[in-house]
Amino acid sequence: MENVQQLTKTIQSIGCNDRRLERFENLYPLPNGISYNSYFIDDEKTAIIDTVDSSVTLQYLENIKFALHGRDLDYLVVNHMEPDHCANIVEIAKLYPNFKLVGNKKTLQFFEQFYPETDLSANYMLVKNGATLSLGQHQLTFMLAPMVHWPEVMFTYESTEKILFSADAFGTFGAMNGNLFTDELDYEQLYGDESRRYYTNIVGKYGPQVTKALKKASDFDIAMIAPLHGPVWRTNHNYILDRYKAWSSYTPEKSGVVVPYASAYGNTASAVDYLVAQLSAQGIQDIRVYDVSKTHPSYVIADIFKYSHVIFAASTYNLALYPSMSALLDEMTILDIKDRKYALIGNGSWAPMATKHMVDFFETQKNWTNLAEPITITTALTKEHQAEFDALAKTVADSIKAETEK
Ligand code: FEO
Repeated sequence: MENVQQLTKTIQSIGCNDRRLERFENLYPLPNGISYNSYFIDDEKTAIIDTVDSSVTLQYLENIKFALHGRDLDYLVVNHMEPDHCANIVEIAKLYPNFKLVGNKKTLQFFEQFYPETDLSANYMLVKNGATLSLGQHQLTFMLAPMVHWPEVMFTYESTEKILFSADAFGTFGAMNGNLFTDELDYEQLYGDESRRYYTNIVGKYGPQVTKALKKASDFDIAMIAPLHGPVWRTNHNYILDRYKAWSSYTPEKSGVVVPYASAYGNTASAVDYLVAQLSAQGIQDIRVYDVSKTHPSYVIADIFKYSHVIFAASTYNLALYPSMSALLDEMTILDIKDRKYALIGNGSWAPMATKHMVDFFETQKNWTNLAEPITITTALTKEHQAEFDALAKTVADSIKAETEK
């Protein structure tokens, strides 16, 4: 049976939820599932904005059939040609062969790469930045938004009801819970952290492109922002826009410290526990400590975007950096995270090399500010290093307090 919700009198949300998928893109854990949003515009001409993942095809096709009420489909606008959104184009083509597939040059190129066995070239409607399409009452304008999150991405603005269909932008991990709009739920509680983890890990590398897209979108009078994942924004746009401005410019949301550590037998972990207790004694609140062997890097990355300071602590492993810390640093490089203050603690029982590997890594990073001489311990934290740890806690605490007072 169909399951559709009214966005407005003439626009429906026809997307679906997936709570079974373990990992988004086979990488990022989804403890609360994910929604794949799709929208149907009912006018003189009918149009769908984006499709959904193949895992929910059956429900999705029922939703389309219901929304059309026996009419034909005139347009399928593809804002994003990634399989979580484009997986049903071929299915739609089988059922509604007369539709026009609306996309830019790259959209159509990617369609052919993903679906080489299906020739829809006769259905193509190629659009350029700023092109418009009238459905009757509804008028669509297409705006290229490359790298938010792939190069073919575009936003579609509907000017009669003032709706920005924003592709992946302003979306979140987490399935929908029945409530379609952000003002019908406790967004901060349900999606606050997950929307950050979604943005930072999926689009985090493309801050400058996101900034550009935000600037372009600000030319439009926007009543509603309809993303491809998660609930729709019809009020309080500034909440999400402000967060996007911070994330895309790599500006910390909060002065505070994240402490990711890698520890084989618990000695580095114990040293970190001593350090964070001293930070707390210095008045630092809301400290975030993560064992990077246990916590998926996407959660740590999200907090590194959120906070201003990071202390990395890791042991040596076969003369190299402990692999799970190495994986976190790799991920940071991939995402091009910058503009944070940091300190380093290395450990090793013989030939301790972790400190050197981390120092070498940060020499290659942009705009990371080192706060203190790296500390190296040889297995357990002892009285010999207590003063160094106390001094490090004071240095980091003073720096955080100075940021807070700015
Ligand atoms: Fe939701 Fe970039 O795909």
